[in-house]
Amino acid sequence: MKRIITYGTFDLLHIGHINILRRAKGFGDYLIVAISSDQFNAIKDKQAYYTFEHRKAILEAVRDVDQVIPENSWKQKIEDVQKYNIDTFVMGDDWKSQFDFLNDYCEVVYLSRTVGISTSKIKSDLFKVQND
Ligand code: CTP
Repeated sequence: MKRIITYGTFDLLHIGHINILRRAKGFGDYLIVAISSDQFNAIKDKQAYYTFEHRKAILEAVRDVDQVIPENSWKQKIEDVQKYNIDTFVMGDDWKSQFDFLNDYCEVVYLSRTVGISTSKIKSDLFKVQND
């Protein structure tokens, strides 16, 4: 059984998220999604609309997702790859080459992002609509 892991905030789930989850799952049999905890987002100066618990529940309802775990720090990736026996680490290519150090532990794959959508864009588009 091939095990895959990917990371992100996955707030306001959108088609770009669904596409990367589907393509990530295509690399194996079991997909773990590590999502930023609310505390970790605060460290990154980011605030998700949905709480960690809600983002987790939404992702757990997605067919391609087998397990959701918290990401609490930048440093945990090597530990996660070892602990969960990961074969392939997948990220969108906005992170290209940034996680190449994981090549010592598993395969590292960067996938092209879906064009024209992001959580930030949804938030700013809704803000514009509200203020028109
Ligand atoms: N992603 C993607 N295509 C998009 C948006 C996101 O493939 N259009 C991927 C990212 O590359 C990442 C994962 O989805 O691997 C989770 O990204 P996340 O940062 O949670 O989503 P964004 O929509 O990029 O959020 P934000 O605008 O807040 O950065």
